[in-house]
Amino acid sequence: MDKIRIRGGRTLRGEVVIHGAKNAALPLMAACLLTDETLVLGNLPHLADITTLVHLLGQHGVIVRMDGGAPNGGNDGRVLALHAERITRTIAPYNIVRKMRASVLVLGPLLAREGTATVSLPGGCAIGTRPIDLHLSALEQMGAKVELKGGYVHALAPRDGLKGAEIRFPVVSVGATENIMMAATLAKGQTILHNAAREPEVTDLAHCLIAMGAKIGGVGTDTLTVEGRDRLGAAEYTVLPDRIEAGTYAFAAAITGGEIEVVGGRIEHLDAAVGALQAAGVTVAPTERGFRVTGYGRLKAVDITTQPYPGFPTDLQAQFMALMTLADGASMITETIFENRFMHVPELTRMGADITVRGNTALVRGAAALRGAPVMATDLRASVSLVLAALAAEGETIVNRVYHLDRGYERLEERLRSCGADIERLRE
Ligand code: EPZ
Repeated sequence: MDKIRIRGGRTLRGEVVIHGAKNAALPLMAACLLTDETLVLGNLPHLADITTLVHLLGQHGVIVRMDGGAPNGGNDGRVLALHAERITRTIAPYNIVRKMRASVLVLGPLLAREGTATVSLPGGCAIGTRPIDLHLSALEQMGAKVELKGGYVHALAPRDGLKGAEIRFPVVSVGATENIMMAATLAKGQTILHNAAREPEVTDLAHCLIAMGAKIGGVGTDTLTVEGRDRLGAAEYTVLPDRIEAGTYAFAAAITGGEIEVVGGRIEHLDAAVGALQAAGVTVAPTERGFRVTGYGRLKAVDITTQPYPGFPTDLQAQFMALMTLADGASMITETIFENRFMHVPELTRMGADITVRGNTALVRGAAALRGAPVMATDLRASVSLVLAALAAEGETIVNRVYHLDRGYERLEERLRSCGADIERLRE
């Protein structure tokens, strides 16, 4: 398994180009199942999760052409043409779904298009049990019969198709909002989703579905109204830039007291994170190509609480904690989205961080310095928080199990090295 070696203490200066958002690309790819025409997606990131979903869609009968069509292809993203002319298999098997829980996003489209779907339960992951009860109860409200058997969801739509319904999500769920919004585009009648997720990735999916002929109102708000159609058609769509990747590189400038231009990053998708950076004494200024982040030595301690969008994103919590381990003062970090998203704490502690966890709150007492150490990546965002800490730590850090990193960050070490980091991938 690859490792990453970092020798800390370098100030990062330069620019990074932000790629298409993983968490937008995955539902957008699943949307190809809703039409028998071709969906062309541009600016897709080159990540393991995208490849996994290509494999899953392929076994449903989707013809996938790499670099087919050419919307504008985004900056240097991959272009995929996805054509589900005929769906030959409606089973999403455990051996694929267990690798990537976002595979559950084929459930709504398969059920809407084919009237039946058998999808492996995703199972939990490091950050929590991550159930899909909200997805299933909403599909039942749309008339589906849902049975859990042998670790699989067996769903069957009524003979004349899913019915529009008025659905109220008790918890804001990105995946449930996406799954049900896709199913609703082909349902009979109107579906209203209350307490829907407002993440930019959900909005990106809504815009793509509209380009395919769907009728969706309230896009960007917490109430989505979908008028079902008989069919959807072809579209070409470019995936929006990854706000979590952009925020992560912004934090790299902050923690090293350097300056990075985040090219392609959309500052308007990061209000809460930018607000926290500015409160910590970092300047963030829009530029023609994105925004520039400038750190000035020791950060001020700032309290954050993760919330659904537009609040502080849970996917940047671990990275922000890395910053606060070196801040001047104590910071309270509260995680409200997932029940077990502090796995980075013991690893940061090994580097000299002073963090006390009580339930879903971590109290971070800023240290004068961190020291490099061998550490273990556990989940995608925790692993990149270790990289951030290592960039500022004295001495050498070895991050093990970097396959977690590769799921969400494309060529991370190359891009940090181009800004002056002493970082190298050690191939085992
Ligand atoms: C998406 O996961 C993202 N993944 C996650 O990013 C992100 O952390 C999360 O949204 C929150 O923003 C993708 O988009 C592929 P949720 P998702 O449904 O949809 C509970 C990353 O690092 N819940 O919004 O699975 C759930 O347990 C990943 O890129 C239910 O209880 O998240 C969690 O506590 C990690 N029942 C909360 O809701 C359900 O049916 C939010 O989950 C569904 C969710």
